[in-house]
Amino acid sequence: MFKVNQDYLKLPGSYLFSEIAKRVKEYSEANPEKKIIRLGIGDVTQPLCPAVIKALHSAVDEMAEADTFKGYAPDLGYEFLRSTIADKVYKPLGADIDKDEIFVSDGAKSDSGNIQEIFDRDVKIAVCDPVYPVYVDTNVMAGRTGTYDAATGLWSDVIYMPCTAENGYAPELPVNGRDGLGKDNRVPDIIYLCFPNNPTGATITKDALQDWVDYANRIGAVIIYDAAYEAYISEEDVPHSIYEMRGARTCAIEIRSFSKNAGFTGTRLGYTVIPKDIKDSDGNTLHALWARRHGTKFNGAPYIVQKAGEAVFSEEGQRETNEQIAYYMKNAAYILDGLKSAGYTVSGGVNAPYIWLRTPDRMSSWDFFDYLLKEANVVGTPGSGFGPSGEGHFRLTAFGSYENTVEAIDRIKKL
Ligand code: MLT
Repeated sequence: MFKVNQDYLKLPGSYLFSEIAKRVKEYSEANPEKKIIRLGIGDVTQPLCPAVIKALHSAVDEMAEADTFKGYAPDLGYEFLRSTIADKVYKPLGADIDKDEIFVSDGAKSDSGNIQEIFDRDVKIAVCDPVYPVYVDTNVMAGRTGTYDAATGLWSDVIYMPCTAENGYAPELPVNGRDGLGKDNRVPDIIYLCFPNNPTGATITKDALQDWVDYANRIGAVIIYDAAYEAYISEEDVPHSIYEMRGARTCAIEIRSFSKNAGFTGTRLGYTVIPKDIKDSDGNTLHALWARRHGTKFNGAPYIVQKAGEAVFSEEGQRETNEQIAYYMKNAAYILDGLKSAGYTVSGGVNAPYIWLRTPDRMSSWDFFDYLLKEANVVGTPGSGFGPSGEGHFRLTAFGSYENTVEAIDRIKKL
């Protein structure tokens, strides 16, 4: 009789956002008269901008003509999109990234989950705590995380870097971290960083990120840098890409998305940058391995979607997507101000579309989730779903409509 992958069985409970969706569904079916406002999952609500829609229409028309029809896309991405990204994203930052180092995909979620496949099973991972759950879950699936302690929510073989109010939600080098067993096993091989951060909305300074790059190069680790929320950076001294740092080409992978900056959550497009200079201890390049993996497991993002992605970088596309970002950041400001005036301790929401708050009266994150759902009919995300240090915290997204955001905050203020 066959057996399933035993590592998958180690995963505790459901995926965070599936669990939330289940609870909300149950509640709304039992209370069909209630208007529920969803500020949980970071899904956009504004439609795709006109420049993107125009590009989609014209690409669809091309698919209808024999001489412009496209079949399989190149598995690493169309040349037109890879060059546009190199020219429009990396060149203006002074970052030395060649178009051939850019791998186009169907989104940052799959890339951030799949990238661990090209590392040895025994590599040690370090994650911020709290953190986007995909990083740890996919390493659990790969059998890399040891045993789970339900009491603490920690995996024995993962290095956790707590990000709390005390350290300004900025991770410290793992020498100060803790791991699930309290063992002295704190030298990571893979370091997951995400800035602007999901879920806390915190950012990192250029000097601090430079320290991470220097550290990774010193110990021979790779940083997987998730920059999905880069478009929301509004302050100076916040790096837009890890490749602004000296030495990043030998230690950093960067993952980007079209979901949050241009509303592609349902359209699906992202990319991962792997410089050819990153090599393991035997001289193998990650670039070659990821290309091999793409070739075997991926047939390329659809042509029409890549044309839509290219349109995001047009003058019109940039203007229109910037307007959308400003729209969401107006929501963020409303949430921040509203919650502050109601006495909540809040952070984030300045360079990121997420607001991180402390639950009132030391309520647990899931108790506050249930309380908010029942008493205000507002959905958020429990902080503990992102890791043990998220307990006692809660995340609200600024991706709702302005009207719903105002209504949700006004309801919370009345509680
Ligand atoms: C989130 O809410 O954390 C994100 O939207 C999830 C995702 O991007 O996959």
